[in-house]
Amino acid sequence: MKKVFLAAFSFILLLLISCTAKNVNQENQYKSFKPGEIWLDTDGNPINAHGGGVLFHEGTYYWYGEYKGDSTYRNPNPNVAGWECYRTEAGGVSCYSSKDLYNWKFEGKVLEPDTVNIGSDLHPSKVLERPKVIYNEKTKKFVMWLHVDSDDYWKASAGVATCDSPAGKFNYIGSMHPNGQISRDMTLYKDDDKRAYLLYSSEGNATLYISLLTDDYLQHSGRYTRNFPEKYREAPAVFKHNNKFYLISSGCTGWDPNKAEYAMADSLLGQWTALNNPCRGVDAEKTYYSQSTFALPVNGKKDTYIAMFDKWNKTDLIASRYVWLPVSFNSDSLVINWADEWSY
Ligand code: DGJ
Repeated sequence: MKKVFLAAFSFILLLLISCTAKNVNQENQYKSFKPGEIWLDTDGNPINAHGGGVLFHEGTYYWYGEYKGDSTYRNPNPNVAGWECYRTEAGGVSCYSSKDLYNWKFEGKVLEPDTVNIGSDLHPSKVLERPKVIYNEKTKKFVMWLHVDSDDYWKASAGVATCDSPAGKFNYIGSMHPNGQISRDMTLYKDDDKRAYLLYSSEGNATLYISLLTDDYLQHSGRYTRNFPEKYREAPAVFKHNNKFYLISSGCTGWDPNKAEYAMADSLLGQWTALNNPCRGVDAEKTYYSQSTFALPVNGKKDTYIAMFDKWNKTDLIASRYVWLPVSFNSDSLVINWADEWSY
Protein backbone atom coordinates (compact mmCIF):
# COMPACT_ATOMS: atom_id res chain seq x y z
CA MET A 1 0.00 0.00 0.00
CA LYS A 2 2.81 2.30 1.02
CA LYS A 3 4.58 1.56 -2.31
CA VAL A 4 1.44 2.38 -4.36
CA PHE A 5 1.03 5.64 -2.48
CA LEU A 6 4.68 6.57 -3.05
CA ALA A 7 4.46 5.76 -6.78
CA ALA A 8 1.28 7.85 -7.18
CA PHE A 9 2.84 10.72 -5.24
CA SER A 10 6.01 10.67 -7.38
CA PHE A 11 3.91 10.56 -10.58
CA ILE A 12 1.87 13.63 -9.54
CA LEU A 13 5.05 15.45 -8.50
CA LEU A 14 6.70 14.76 -11.88
CA LEU A 15 3.56 15.88 -13.69
CA LEU A 16 3.48 19.13 -11.71
CA ILE A 17 7.18 19.80 -12.36
CA SER A 18 6.82 19.16 -16.09
CA CYS A 19 3.70 21.40 -16.35
CA THR A 20 5.44 24.22 -14.49
CA ALA A 21 8.53 23.83 -16.68
CA LYS A 22 6.33 23.99 -19.80
CA ASN A 23 4.65 27.20 -18.59
CA VAL A 24 7.96 28.80 -17.70
CA ASN A 25 9.27 27.77 -21.13
CA GLN A 26 6.31 29.21 -22.97
CA GLU A 27 6.31 32.41 -20.98
CA ASN A 28 9.96 32.97 -21.83
CA GLN A 29 10.22 31.09 -25.08
CA TYR A 30 11.41 34.09 -27.10
CA LYS A 31 14.47 36.24 -26.49
CA SER A 32 14.41 37.96 -29.88
CA PHE A 33 12.15 38.97 -32.77
CA LYS A 34 12.06 36.78 -35.89
CA PRO A 35 10.20 38.92 -38.44
CA GLY A 36 7.81 37.01 -40.71
CA GLU A 37 8.02 33.75 -38.74
CA ILE A 38 5.12 32.14 -36.88
CA TRP A 39 4.82 33.87 -33.50
CA LEU A 40 3.20 31.87 -30.68
CA ASP A 41 1.57 33.28 -27.57
CA THR A 42 2.35 31.90 -24.11
CA ASP A 43 -0.37 29.24 -24.56
CA GLY A 44 1.39 28.00 -27.70
CA ASN A 45 -1.17 29.41 -30.17
CA PRO A 46 -0.29 31.69 -33.12
CA ILE A 47 -0.87 35.32 -32.17
CA ASN A 48 -4.09 36.62 -33.78
CA ALA A 49 -3.78 40.42 -33.59
CA HIS A 50 -3.55 41.83 -37.10
CA GLY A 51 -3.40 45.48 -38.15
CA GLY A 52 -2.65 46.16 -34.53
CA GLY A 53 -1.12 48.70 -32.21
CA VAL A 54 0.54 48.59 -28.80
CA LEU A 55 -0.19 50.55 -25.63
CA PHE A 56 2.35 50.74 -22.80
CA HIS A 57 0.59 51.15 -19.47
CA GLU A 58 2.01 50.85 -15.94
CA GLY A 59 4.88 48.54 -16.87
CA THR A 60 3.00 46.30 -19.30
CA TYR A 61 2.64 46.37 -23.07
CA TYR A 62 -0.83 45.61 -24.51
CA TRP A 63 -1.06 44.56 -28.14
CA TYR A 64 -4.53 45.05 -29.68
CA GLY A 65 -5.38 43.70 -33.11
CA GLU A 66 -7.92 42.23 -35.49
CA TYR A 67 -8.96 38.76 -34.35
CA LYS A 68 -9.43 37.08 -37.71
CA GLY A 69 -11.77 34.16 -38.35
CA ASP A 70 -10.24 30.96 -39.70
CA SER A 71 -11.81 30.80 -43.14
CA THR A 72 -10.99 33.27 -45.88
CA TYR A 73 -13.12 33.70 -48.99
CA ARG A 74 -13.31 36.11 -51.87
CA ASN A 75 -16.28 38.35 -51.21
CA PRO A 76 -19.02 37.54 -53.78
CA ASN A 77 -20.69 40.95 -53.23
CA PRO A 78 -21.09 42.45 -56.77
CA ASN A 79 -19.96 45.86 -55.43
CA VAL A 80 -16.44 44.48 -55.04
CA ALA A 81 -16.25 42.36 -58.20
CA GLY A 82 -13.55 44.64 -59.62
CA TRP A 83 -10.95 43.95 -56.93
CA GLU A 84 -9.68 41.09 -54.84
CA CYS A 85 -11.82 41.64 -51.76
CA TYR A 86 -10.70 38.67 -49.71
CA ARG A 87 -12.29 38.66 -46.31
CA THR A 88 -12.82 36.59 -43.22
CA GLU A 89 -15.28 36.82 -40.34
CA ALA A 90 -14.58 39.84 -38.17
CA GLY A 91 -13.93 38.18 -34.82
CA GLY A 92 -13.63 41.33 -32.72
CA VAL A 93 -10.48 42.82 -31.21
CA SER A 94 -7.94 40.70 -29.35
CA CYS A 95 -5.54 41.82 -26.65
CA TYR A 96 -2.19 40.30 -25.64
CA SER A 97 0.02 41.49 -22.79
CA SER A 98 3.78 41.38 -22.38
CA LYS A 99 6.54 42.74 -20.19
CA ASP A 100 9.35 42.22 -22.71
CA LEU A 101 7.67 42.58 -26.16
CA TYR A 102 8.86 39.09 -27.18
CA ASN A 103 6.49 36.88 -25.17
CA TRP A 104 2.76 37.64 -25.30
CA LYS A 105 -0.06 36.32 -23.14
CA PHE A 106 -3.53 36.16 -24.70
CA GLU A 107 -5.88 38.31 -22.58
CA GLY A 108 -8.95 37.44 -24.66
CA LYS A 109 -11.13 39.49 -26.93
CA VAL A 110 -11.53 42.96 -25.51
CA LEU A 111 -14.10 43.95 -28.13
CA GLU A 112 -16.46 41.05 -28.75
CA PRO A 113 -18.22 40.51 -32.07
CA ASP A 114 -22.00 40.92 -32.00
CA THR A 115 -23.19 37.62 -33.46
CA VAL A 116 -26.89 38.44 -32.99
CA ASN A 117 -27.57 41.81 -34.58
CA ILE A 118 -26.69 41.76 -38.29
CA GLY A 119 -27.05 45.56 -38.37
CA SER A 120 -24.27 46.04 -35.80
CA ASP A 121 -20.82 47.32 -36.82
CA LEU A 122 -19.46 44.41 -34.78
CA HIS A 123 -21.33 41.64 -36.61
CA PRO A 124 -18.86 39.06 -38.03
CA SER A 125 -20.14 39.76 -41.57
CA LYS A 126 -18.69 43.30 -41.31
CA VAL A 127 -15.13 44.61 -41.41
CA LEU A 128 -13.22 45.52 -38.22
CA GLU A 129 -9.67 46.70 -38.86
CA ARG A 130 -6.64 48.44 -37.37
CA PRO A 131 -7.74 48.93 -33.73
CA LYS A 132 -5.58 51.22 -31.60
CA VAL A 133 -5.92 52.13 -27.91
CA ILE A 134 -4.77 55.10 -25.84
CA TYR A 135 -5.36 56.05 -22.21
CA ASN A 136 -7.11 59.23 -21.15
CA GLU A 137 -5.77 60.44 -17.79
CA LYS A 138 -8.66 62.87 -17.25
CA THR A 139 -11.53 60.42 -17.77
CA LYS A 140 -9.46 57.40 -16.67
CA LYS A 141 -10.78 55.52 -19.70
CA PHE A 142 -8.94 53.41 -22.22
CA VAL A 143 -10.16 54.58 -25.62
CA MET A 144 -10.11 52.43 -28.72
CA TRP A 145 -10.56 53.69 -32.27
CA LEU A 146 -10.85 51.34 -35.21
CA HIS A 147 -11.88 51.13 -38.84
CA VAL A 148 -15.39 49.69 -39.13
CA ASP A 149 -16.87 48.90 -42.49
CA SER A 150 -19.53 47.04 -44.43
CA ASP A 151 -18.38 43.87 -46.22
CA ASP A 152 -17.95 45.91 -49.44
CA TYR A 153 -15.92 48.64 -47.66
CA TRP A 154 -18.47 51.36 -48.52
CA LYS A 155 -19.48 52.29 -44.96
CA ALA A 156 -15.89 53.46 -44.39
CA SER A 157 -16.33 54.71 -40.82
CA ALA A 158 -14.38 55.22 -37.63
CA GLY A 159 -15.64 53.35 -34.55
CA VAL A 160 -14.92 54.17 -30.93
CA ALA A 161 -15.10 52.11 -27.73
CA THR A 162 -14.01 52.59 -24.10
CA CYS A 163 -13.05 50.53 -21.07
CA ASP A 164 -11.96 51.15 -17.46
CA SER A 165 -9.01 48.76 -17.73
CA PRO A 166 -6.58 47.93 -20.54
CA ALA A 167 -7.59 44.27 -20.95
CA GLY A 168 -11.24 44.48 -19.88
CA LYS A 169 -14.29 44.30 -22.13
CA PHE A 170 -14.58 47.48 -24.18
CA ASN A 171 -17.97 49.13 -24.52
CA TYR A 172 -18.67 50.03 -28.16
CA ILE A 173 -20.06 53.56 -28.48
CA GLY A 174 -20.65 53.73 -32.24
CA SER A 175 -19.20 54.88 -35.53
CA MET A 176 -19.03 58.06 -37.57
CA HIS A 177 -17.65 59.73 -40.65
CA PRO A 178 -15.13 61.98 -38.90
CA ASN A 179 -15.20 65.59 -40.05
CA GLY A 180 -17.95 64.64 -42.50
CA GLN A 181 -15.63 62.45 -44.60
CA ILE A 182 -15.16 58.73 -45.01
CA SER A 183 -12.46 57.01 -42.98
CA ARG A 184 -10.65 53.71 -43.59
CA ASP A 185 -7.07 52.77 -42.55
CA MET A 186 -6.16 54.58 -39.38
CA THR A 187 -3.91 55.02 -36.41
CA LEU A 188 -4.11 56.90 -33.13
CA TYR A 189 -1.43 59.10 -31.63
CA LYS A 190 -1.28 60.62 -28.15
CA ASP A 191 1.25 63.42 -27.81
CA ASP A 192 3.25 64.34 -24.70
CA ASP A 193 0.85 67.24 -24.05
CA LYS A 194 -1.93 64.57 -23.82
CA ARG A 195 -3.63 65.76 -26.99
CA ALA A 196 -4.69 62.86 -29.17
CA TYR A 197 -5.13 62.58 -32.93
CA LEU A 198 -6.76 60.17 -35.34
CA LEU A 199 -4.92 59.76 -38.64
CA TYR A 200 -7.06 58.16 -41.36
CA SER A 201 -7.25 57.58 -45.09
CA SER A 202 -10.13 59.65 -46.42
CA GLU A 203 -11.71 61.05 -49.60
CA GLY A 204 -11.81 57.57 -51.18
CA ASN A 205 -8.34 56.87 -49.66
CA ALA A 206 -6.85 59.69 -51.77
CA THR A 207 -6.01 61.99 -48.84
CA LEU A 208 -4.72 61.32 -45.34
CA TYR A 209 -6.53 63.29 -42.64
CA ILE A 210 -5.05 64.16 -39.26
CA SER A 211 -7.74 65.12 -36.80
CA LEU A 212 -7.39 66.47 -33.27
CA LEU A 213 -9.74 64.64 -30.90
CA THR A 214 -11.72 66.28 -28.11
CA ASP A 215 -10.20 66.19 -24.60
CA ASP A 216 -12.07 62.96 -23.78
CA TYR A 217 -10.75 61.39 -27.04
CA LEU A 218 -14.30 60.33 -28.00
CA GLN A 219 -15.10 62.91 -30.69
CA HIS A 220 -13.37 65.04 -33.28
CA SER A 221 -12.61 68.58 -32.21
CA GLY A 222 -13.19 70.09 -35.66
CA ARG A 223 -9.48 70.86 -36.15
CA TYR A 224 -7.98 68.69 -38.85
CA THR A 225 -5.61 68.80 -41.81
CA ARG A 226 -5.70 67.18 -45.27
CA ASN A 227 -2.35 65.68 -46.24
CA PHE A 228 -0.79 64.20 -49.38
CA PRO A 229 -3.91 64.79 -51.57
CA GLU A 230 -4.30 62.33 -54.47
CA LYS A 231 -1.35 60.28 -53.15
CA TYR A 232 -3.49 57.37 -51.87
CA ARG A 233 -1.57 56.64 -48.69
CA GLU A 234 -2.81 53.87 -46.37
CA ALA A 235 -1.67 52.07 -43.22
CA PRO A 236 -0.40 55.13 -41.28
CA ALA A 237 2.05 54.64 -38.39
CA VAL A 238 3.43 57.66 -36.55
CA PHE A 239 6.02 58.41 -33.87
CA LYS A 240 8.02 61.34 -32.49
CA HIS A 241 11.81 61.45 -32.35
CA ASN A 242 13.93 64.48 -31.40
CA ASN A 243 10.84 66.69 -31.56
CA LYS A 244 10.10 65.70 -35.15
CA PHE A 245 7.16 63.57 -36.22
CA TYR A 246 7.68 60.63 -38.57
CA LEU A 247 4.81 59.11 -40.51
CA ILE A 248 5.23 55.78 -42.31
CA SER A 249 2.52 54.72 -44.76
CA SER A 250 1.89 52.33 -47.63
CA GLY A 251 0.44 52.72 -51.09
CA CYS A 252 -3.06 51.50 -51.84
CA THR A 253 -3.04 48.00 -53.39
CA GLY A 254 -5.50 45.98 -51.29
CA TRP A 255 -3.79 43.12 -49.44
CA ASP A 256 -0.83 43.13 -51.85
CA PRO A 257 2.45 44.68 -50.72
CA ASN A 258 3.86 47.87 -52.19
CA LYS A 259 6.51 50.47 -51.40
CA ALA A 260 6.40 52.24 -48.04
CA GLU A 261 7.14 55.95 -47.79
CA TYR A 262 7.67 58.25 -44.89
CA ALA A 263 7.07 61.91 -44.21
CA MET A 264 8.28 64.34 -41.55
CA ALA A 265 6.73 67.32 -39.78
CA ASP A 266 7.48 69.61 -36.85
CA SER A 267 3.94 69.28 -35.56
CA LEU A 268 1.17 66.82 -36.26
CA LEU A 269 -1.20 69.44 -37.66
CA GLY A 270 1.66 71.23 -39.44
CA GLN A 271 3.13 70.88 -42.90
CA TRP A 272 4.33 67.36 -43.77
CA THR A 273 7.26 66.83 -46.10
CA ALA A 274 6.88 63.62 -48.09
CA LEU A 275 10.21 61.80 -48.29
CA ASN A 276 11.22 58.42 -49.65
CA ASN A 277 11.13 54.75 -48.87
CA PRO A 278 12.70 54.13 -45.44
CA CYS A 279 13.23 50.42 -46.18
CA ARG A 280 16.58 49.20 -47.49
CA GLY A 281 17.96 46.11 -49.19
CA VAL A 282 16.31 43.04 -50.67
CA ASP A 283 12.51 43.39 -51.09
CA ALA A 284 12.59 46.96 -49.77
CA GLU A 285 10.43 48.01 -52.77
CA LYS A 286 7.69 45.71 -51.42
CA THR A 287 8.26 46.61 -47.76
CA TYR A 288 9.56 43.04 -47.26
CA TYR A 289 6.14 41.81 -48.44
CA SER A 290 4.39 43.57 -45.57
CA GLN A 291 2.45 46.73 -44.71
CA SER A 292 2.85 49.22 -41.85
CA THR A 293 0.49 49.24 -38.90
CA PHE A 294 2.17 50.95 -35.91
CA ALA A 295 5.36 52.57 -34.66
CA LEU A 296 6.20 51.61 -31.09
CA PRO A 297 8.61 53.48 -28.79
CA VAL A 298 10.33 50.97 -26.48
CA ASN A 299 9.83 52.06 -22.89
CA GLY A 300 12.97 53.16 -21.09
CA LYS A 301 15.20 52.81 -24.17
CA LYS A 302 16.07 56.19 -25.58
CA ASP A 303 15.64 56.58 -29.36
CA THR A 304 14.45 52.96 -29.70
CA TYR A 305 11.39 52.40 -31.86
CA ILE A 306 9.91 49.33 -33.48
CA ALA A 307 8.26 49.59 -36.89
CA MET A 308 5.39 47.10 -36.90
CA PHE A 309 4.15 45.65 -40.19
CA ASP A 310 1.66 42.95 -41.22
CA LYS A 311 2.69 40.34 -43.74
CA TRP A 312 -0.77 39.66 -45.19
CA ASN A 313 -1.68 36.24 -46.51
CA LYS A 314 -4.67 37.35 -48.57
CA THR A 315 -6.09 33.87 -49.29
CA ASP A 316 -5.67 32.73 -45.67
CA LEU A 317 -5.89 35.93 -43.67
CA ILE A 318 -5.64 34.34 -40.22
CA ALA A 319 -2.21 33.01 -41.26
CA SER A 320 -0.90 36.53 -41.92
CA ARG A 321 2.31 37.13 -39.99
CA TYR A 322 4.05 39.99 -38.23
CA VAL A 323 7.17 41.81 -39.28
CA TRP A 324 8.62 43.93 -36.47
CA LEU A 325 11.81 45.74 -37.41
CA PRO A 326 14.16 48.16 -35.67
CA VAL A 327 14.07 51.80 -36.69
CA SER A 328 17.36 53.63 -37.19
CA PHE A 329 18.33 57.11 -38.24
CA ASN A 330 20.88 58.52 -40.61
CA SER A 331 21.08 62.04 -39.19
CA ASP A 332 17.31 62.92 -39.34
CA SER A 333 16.48 60.41 -42.07
CA LEU A 334 14.53 57.31 -41.23
CA VAL A 335 16.04 53.94 -42.12
CA ILE A 336 14.47 50.50 -41.74
CA ASN A 337 16.66 47.50 -42.45
CA TRP A 338 15.62 43.89 -42.69
CA ALA A 339 16.79 41.52 -39.93
CA ASP A 340 16.17 37.75 -39.82
CA GLU A 341 16.46 37.92 -36.07
CA TRP A 342 17.09 40.81 -33.68
CA SER A 343 16.60 42.04 -30.15
CA TYR A 344 16.62 45.53 -28.69
C1 DGJ B 1 -5.43 47.56 -47.31
C2 DGJ B 1 -5.61 47.98 -45.89
O1 DGJ B 1 -4.44 48.55 -45.44
C3 DGJ B 1 -5.99 46.78 -45.04
O2 DGJ B 1 -6.16 47.19 -43.71
C4 DGJ B 1 -7.26 46.19 -45.60
O3 DGJ B 1 -8.28 47.13 -45.52
C5 DGJ B 1 -7.04 45.81 -47.06
N1 DGJ B 1 -6.62 46.97 -47.81
C6 DGJ B 1 -8.29 45.24 -47.69
O4 DGJ B 1 -8.05 44.94 -49.03
